[in-house]
Amino acid sequence: MTLKVPDNQTIVIFGATGDLTGRKLLPALYNLFVQSLLPQDFAVVGYSRTEMSTDEFREHQAANVAKYSRTGLDPEAWERFAAHLDYMAGGFEPEAAMHPLAQHLEEVDAAIRGGGRRMFYCAVPPSLFPKIATRLGEEGLNLGGRIVMEKPFGFDLASARELNRQLHEVFDENQIYRIDHYLGKETVQNILVLRFANGMFEPIWNRRYVKQVQIDVAEELGIEGRGKFYEEAGAMRDIVQNHVMQLLAFVTMEPPARFDAESIRDEKVKLLRSVPPVRRRERDLVRGQYVAGVVRGVLVPGYREEIDVDPESITETFVAIRLRVENWRWAGVPIVVRTGKRLARSATQITISFAAAPHLLFEESGLDLPGPNNLCIRVQPNEGISLSFDAKEPGPEMRIGQVQMDFEYEKSFMTKPAEAYERLLHDVMVEDHTLFMRADEIERAWEIVEPVLERLPPDPYFAGSWGPERAKELVSPYQWHLR
Ligand code: BG6
Repeated sequence: MTLKVPDNQTIVIFGATGDLTGRKLLPALYNLFVQSLLPQDFAVVGYSRTEMSTDEFREHQAANVAKYSRTGLDPEAWERFAAHLDYMAGGFEPEAAMHPLAQHLEEVDAAIRGGGRRMFYCAVPPSLFPKIATRLGEEGLNLGGRIVMEKPFGFDLASARELNRQLHEVFDENQIYRIDHYLGKETVQNILVLRFANGMFEPIWNRRYVKQVQIDVAEELGIEGRGKFYEEAGAMRDIVQNHVMQLLAFVTMEPPARFDAESIRDEKVKLLRSVPPVRRRERDLVRGQYVAGVVRGVLVPGYREEIDVDPESITETFVAIRLRVENWRWAGVPIVVRTGKRLARSATQITISFAAAPHLLFEESGLDLPGPNNLCIRVQPNEGISLSFDAKEPGPEMRIGQVQMDFEYEKSFMTKPAEAYERLLHDVMVEDHTLFMRADEIERAWEIVEPVLERLPPDPYFAGSWGPERAKELVSPYQWHLR
């Protein structure tokens, strides 16, 4: 699919000197520019409290792009791109604090052919989202503007509802773009293609043939200096409520009526409504917290020893949950999800385990079968899909081994998947909501995790392991595919 060149517009970034802007947004915009996927005429206006000149802002971002852009920085391309960058210092308080910005935007837009289309990207802590919306509304900048923000959307169901209510006071739902960066990943989008462009999977994508679905979001990394944030969030809020629910929806939803944003989002919400809230029973839920251990040969501290973490914290850094999807397609199929920090390896993957052959001819002759047929979708790293099945090992004796058919993005398409933010920023520019979350979707995802948000003492696990031992019981009679 060739991506469309967006109409001319102005991109305003709130929190322009922050981490998200430097690591992700500017490198993504620069790479879109290099691929000629930014509008012909555009401006990027950075807005933040820090006093700095436009030249200083450009210099600061050049260093970020050089460091974080997937294609590096080409000085000539950077010069051309940087000419579109602009900076203004300012805050969000008190009332009318954004008046100077509104005036400035009039000037900026006047210099853009057909100017006046605007995107406002809130690269700021979520507590500021409502305030920014209010300030934009005061200046009339909500009219025709788009507002973009990133999870977490609320802290629980009640606060998510309140946030949606506040945003809807100023913006219509179709002006709001809520980012879950997992949806920008090529491999996540490919789940839809795998399922709905190939005739061979649909007939077996159901309770008759699928015996278990595993969704694994494992990270080697710890909390990377984000102790304050993580103490409040924990794995349930940081990963399960959003990234995991999105993966779950893509893998199990019904085919949409059409390939457009509303049809897809309708199906996702319908699916999430079929997922009952997580039960607090031991056999459905394991929470863990890492203690010091060895990750890839390096001794790392335990969670409670991390900076800004309470030495008696009971925040979970690991969860494994057994979920159900109560509908005609999936009734009775366990959907097990697992996510954790400081696990043995970083990998996000979805594994569909299929039913055994109806009559086990070989078992009768005393042969061990290696396990179920698994379709494994590797979201990252080593993006691709593999299918494992049993084959006869060469030799005079009848022995059975498991083999893999493997598709790798990089080998098949001779390219590395683009950064999620490139795709997502581009989609906001062309006003495509497909990969963004709707208010009802977010609220339903909170309803599912709500019963287990309350903290309870977690099981300890060693950094560098696969989490508490008990997590193994959740996938029984299978094993975790990622191990
Ligand atoms: C973020 C979480 O949303 O996703 C982080 O806040 C996590 O804790 C990150 O590390 C994982 O994203 P990715 O793209 O590296 O899998």
